[in-house]
Amino acid sequence: MKIIMLGAPGAGKGTQAINIAKEYDIPHVSTGDIFRANIKNGTELGKAAKEYMDAGKLVPDEITIGMLLDRISEEDCKNGYVLDGFPRTIPQAESLKDALTKRGEKIDFAVDIEVPDTEITARMTGRRSCPKCGATYHIKFNPTKQEGVCDECGGELVQRADDKPETVEKRLHVYHEQTQPLIDFYEKEGVLCTIDGTVAPKDVFKAITEVLS
Ligand code: AP5
Ligand code: MG
Ligand code: ZN
Repeated sequence: MKIIMLGAPGAGKGTQAINIAKEYDIPHVSTGDIFRANIKNGTELGKAAKEYMDAGKLVPDEITIGMLLDRISEEDCKNGYVLDGFPRTIPQAESLKDALTKRGEKIDFAVDIEVPDTEITARMTGRRSCPKCGATYHIKFNPTKQEGVCDECGGELVQRADDKPETVEKRLHVYHEQTQPLIDFYEKEGVLCTIDGTVAPKDVFKAITEVLS
């Protein structure tokens, strides 16, 4: 199964992509996580991505598309994957479509998690994430058993550099301008499923599994 997660920053793409990956035993491929891992390891890719990410802008397509297409060509992706944070522009969606068409493949579902902008800011400021395993929490909406410690792996939780209120504003703006048009794109492809992202995380996941099965 090949699944794309759509939705604004903070809509819950990462939270639900991890659930989907577990449920269907497919890899969770997050371009944001790949960039953050590269920044942490000080690679050339990380250096190139960091300035854009810290400014709340998109990393250029020339960098992002090749990186993602390489990742989904790896062995563990041969039975499918859940893409989180890609595509984010029409050229990214077109490139993905072309690459899949060449292999006689297609995306099965584009899951759009809808949350109004007014709810996003509160989610972002309370978000905590685990740099070791990628798990995401929220101090109020999805707390860990022990404060600051990952339930999954015991790693120390951190706050993301781009979750400052000013940067969140910019990311939302970029989302509406460049990423929202993908909803129409996947509607035309006949694979769009729209999910209400304002309910509790477990109920969002229930709605997703109902659509996917
Ligand atoms: P990326 O890491 O993809 O960030 P994003 O899209 O801004 O999305 P987030 O990770 O912030 O939100 P999410 O939807 O995953 O929500 P989450 O589950 O964490 O990208 C970061 C940057 O990398 C971009 O700005 C760009 O610069 C670059 N980049 C990445 N991909 C790119 C691409 N393809 N092209 C170009 N540049 C790219 O949930 C948020 C919070 O809410 C959490 O605290 C969570 O616990 C909580 N929460 C989740 N669900 C619920 C719920 N139902 N109710 C209450 N709280 C909830
Ligand atoms: Mg995420
Ligand atoms: Zn962890």
